[in-house]
Amino acid sequence: MTSTEFHPDRGPLVARLRAAGCVFAEEEAELLVAAADSPERLADLVGRRVAGLPLEHLLGWAEFCGLRVGVDPGVFVPRARTALLVSAAAAVTRRGAAVLDLCCGTGAAALVLAGRLAPRWLAAADLDPAAVACARRNLAPLGAPVYQGDLYEPVPARWRGRLDLVVANAPYVPTGEVALMPPEARLHEAAVALDGGPDGLAVLHRVAEGAADWLAPGGHLAVEVGTGQVEALCAALTGLGLTPHVVRDEEIEGTAVVARRPG
Ligand SMILES: C[S@@+](CC[C@H](N)C(=O)[O-])C[C@H]1O[C@@H](n2cnc3c(N)ncnc32)[C@H](O)[C@@H]1O
Repeated sequence: MTSTEFHPDRGPLVARLRAAGCVFAEEEAELLVAAADSPERLADLVGRRVAGLPLEHLLGWAEFCGLRVGVDPGVFVPRARTALLVSAAAAVTRRGAAVLDLCCGTGAAALVLAGRLAPRWLAAADLDPAAVACARRNLAPLGAPVYQGDLYEPVPARWRGRLDLVVANAPYVPTGEVALMPPEARLHEAAVALDGGPDGLAVLHRVAEGAADWLAPGGHLAVEVGTGQVEALCAALTGLGLTPHVVRDEEIEGTAVVARRPG
């Protein structure tokens, strides 16, 4: 059967998705129908969605800042609020900069920054092999390398002290709060993508320490955090000799901290 012959009735589909708790049931129904090329495939997708799989993992992509970003199973789905982080990072960085997307997940931030900044060097890195494979596919058209390893460790040493921007949406959920996250996140995204240690700042502290070393003078680190973590993170950044400022967007519930290395 070709997709032109396949016109499923949306009514029962929307009702089933809504009953399963999908808030945007109409939109989801359209996306699932568009992704299916047969009744059997649609039934499979809807069954897995109703069972709790994230829509983006079923579709294989997420919309982020107007781009369609590939998302593999288990990889962190880019969130709408991270648009604030990307805009805050772009706002302090000149075109043609050297940019590193640390803790890159799908590489969504790098993809958007490529379009906004035309970097002379753009790379991404992540610890999780599934995220690295996903980001490599997403960033391949740009020719941007994606390194696998702990934070800055796999990044070529020649970039130490020469980066104009390090953007990092690292895990920042306190360990004790991971269990309170929606099942879509806690069951279908890797724990390493969510768990930020006892106070949520364990990875971000190490990101900040590395930034003091890897940024060029005048370069910036941009990270996303929870509102309750801003004070402690800014104190740590200041202690490392960086100058932080906070950016907040209530509408998308995003908070970013941007810190400049003096110079
Ligand atoms: C919250 S997700 C964000 C992914 C992506 N930046 C985004 O906004 O969609 C955090 C990412 O950090 C990665 N990560 C966690 N600990 C890491 C570490 N020590 N070194 C490198 N990456 C790490 C995880 O694998 C995950 O992909």
